Formats: sequence, C-alpha cells, structure tokens
Amino acid sequence: MKIIVPATSANIGPGFDSVGVALSKYLSIEVLEKTDKWVVEHDLEFVPNDERNLLIKTALKVSKNLQPHRVKMTSDIPLARGLGSSSSVIVAGIELANQLGQLNLSDEEKLRFATTFEGHPDNVAPAIFGNLVIASYVNKQVSAVVADFPDVAFLAFIPNYQLRTSDSRNVLPNQLSHKKAVAASSIANVAIAALMKGDMVTAGRAIESDMFHEQFRQKLVPEFYPIKQLAREVGAYATYLSGAGPTVMTLLPKDQLDEMVEKLEAKQFDGQICPLTVDSQGICIEN
Ligand code: HSE
Repeated sequence: MKIIVPATSANIGPGFDSVGVALSKYLSIEVLEKTDKWVVEHDLEFVPNDERNLLIKTALKVSKNLQPHRVKMTSDIPLARGLGSSSSVIVAGIELANQLGQLNLSDEEKLRFATTFEGHPDNVAPAIFGNLVIASYVNKQVSAVVADFPDVAFLAFIPNYQLRTSDSRNVLPNQLSHKKAVAASSIANVAIAALMKGDMVTAGRAIESDMFHEQFRQKLVPEFYPIKQLAREVGAYATYLSGAGPTVMTLLPKDQLDEMVEKLEAKQFDGQICPLTVDSQGICIEN
C-alpha cells in the first residue's frame, strides 16, 4: 500500500493560518512488511528512522496499538521551505493509522486530528482535500470550505536555504490594533471572494496587500521583493510568501509563465525555479 500526500502553499497573502492550496509535489509512504519495531527508510539527514519519526509519532497519537511495519518514505517536497513538508508527514501519519488500524476516519475527522497536531489548518486541510481550502480553527472547532482555484500558473522560487516556521513566526507582532485587524481581515475577505469568482486581478491586488505577516517576514527572504517587482513587469497577478517562507510564489496567466521563468533565471538567484499545478485530489491511497 502507498499513501501519497501533496505539497501545499499556505496563506496566499492575507489568508494567514487559514488558507492554502494543494500543489504538484508529493510525499509518498510505501507500507511494507510487518516488523517487530517500526523502521522508516528514507534518505534524509538528521531524521529518525524509528518510532521517533514524525510519521510514526503521529500515527501512534491517533491509535497507540498499531502493528509496526517497515515503511519507505520518499518526497520531492523540500524541507523547511514553506511548501508543507511537515504537514504532509502529519497527514500521512494520520492516514497510516487509519489504514493499519482500520479506523474508517472521515476526511473531517482526519482534518480535526491534523489541525490539532499542527496548530492551524492552512497546510493540512488542502493536503487532505486537494484544491484550495479556506479553514478556521477557533475554540478547538475546525471549519473548512474546499473550492477550485482559478485557472492560473503557479511559479515557485525555492531558495537554497531553509527557514524554520518557528523563526519565521518569531518576527510577527503579538498584537494588531482593532483598526488594523479590521483592515487586514477586509483585505482577506476581498482576496477570497475574488478567488471564488475567478477575478484574478482583484484577487491579486488583495493578495499583495496582506497586513498579517509578509511585511514582517520579508527581511528574512531577500529574494521576495525583487521577484515581486519582476512579476509585476511580466504582468503576473500576485506574488506572495508561501507559508512561512522562504519559497516565493507567483500567480500568473498561463501564457506569461515562460517569460517569467526566463526573466527569473536571468537573475541567477540561488535556488530552484519550479512551475507547479494545483493538485485536486489531496491525500490518496494506492493498493
Ligand atoms: N500559516 C503558517 C505560517 C504556515 O505562515 O506561519 C506555516 O506553518
């Protein structure tokens, strides 16, 4: 059996801790034979190979008496880059418990577990459902709405350095004034409403007007502002910091993608330029 979970890009500007989209990079977990103790095979440095691995820790939090297996983990979702690598492992761990323990969890139950473990739903929800997900987690209640993303190109610039979510959250203010919170939430409302209507020009403007996090984080990602400028020249809809960064995501009309890739290559930033598409399936099982 194989469990496959997509990458995710969270926040999309003003949807901080609430909005995310599933994208075409994948974590794959192959469940092999039964063993006495958990064995997690992978080629990552500094990541445990036994029951201390996040995959197994998560599965055991869902169901503590699971039969250990040898599992093989492969992923092209880069670590600590703002593309939901750890959320993908959490979602896979919940599914591993679901399958091995025959728990018959609904997607809503998986989302409740995943959000509780992760602390916010913006990466885990699209990893489970696919597509664009708008979600809230307040007073331990999770709500999520799944929607199609307008037909645009996604271009990720993935820098060759990691940024830990905790470091990226440490630069955020503890409080916003009521006036600023109202303004910031009105921008988020417009971004989502415009995405729902497929009005990418209005959505793009709102996405680039985020007041919750990007202005505080941009000093951590020196490529962010120059890429935003370049994208504007090319006629992109918006550029935002994917999740906690450092990946910089540009949304643009599909016929502008090649030009943006060429111009970005010419800048010779240290990182990977990666066109992505929306994953509409979310977590999936292959037998
Ligand atoms: N919404 C989260 C953040 C995503 O921006 O910090 C990363 O977990």
